[in-house]
Amino acid sequence: MSATDVLRTEHRAIERMLAVLETAAQRLEQGQPVRPDMLREAVDFVRNFADRCHHGKEEENLFPRLEARGVPREGGPIAVMLSEHEQGRAYVGAMADAIDAYEGGEESAALAIAENARAYVELLREHIMKEDNVLFAMADRVLSPADQQELEQRFEQIETEVMGPGVHERYHRLLDDLEQELSLG
Ligand SMILES: [Fe+2]
Ligand SMILES: [Fe+2]
Repeated sequence: MSATDVLRTEHRAIERMLAVLETAAQRLEQGQPVRPDMLREAVDFVRNFADRCHHGKEEENLFPRLEARGVPREGGPIAVMLSEHEQGRAYVGAMADAIDAYEGGEESAALAIAENARAYVELLREHIMKEDNVLFAMADRVLSPADQQELEQRFEQIETEVMGPGVHERYHRLLDDLEQELSLG
């Protein structure tokens, strides 16, 4: 698999978690209870699988390689992607902050979680669409087969050295479990 295809495949997993978050937000808005630990697990997934691992691969490996191949960092798609990663972190932080209050029975916290979850879902769906259709399409044109192969090897290294062996699979199981809990998928 090319490096860009690895990232595209991860987008499909992230999109599944976005559907989980959207359903949780809907239930919270309707005043239905959502298990607080489920919300924490979803936050853990987006912080580690989506942000630390996936965005890490993009920010530390793909984007610098694209710059080396002539794609400008400032004023182009890379700058937009970086600022969207930042914006996503802010929404997830606000969501995480409200979970304890929600568990403690604070009613306004349910809506704070739902609002930030929805904002995150909307941001990430559009972000992923832009990467798949614009930035990765550009990457497939400017990166050589050797670039793709080298990036793919670095991604493997991130999986084993930064995330740890078996962690990627653990997050996939979590995804299956949460979908099942919410009767999705
Ligand atoms: Fe990204
Ligand atoms: Fe991405």
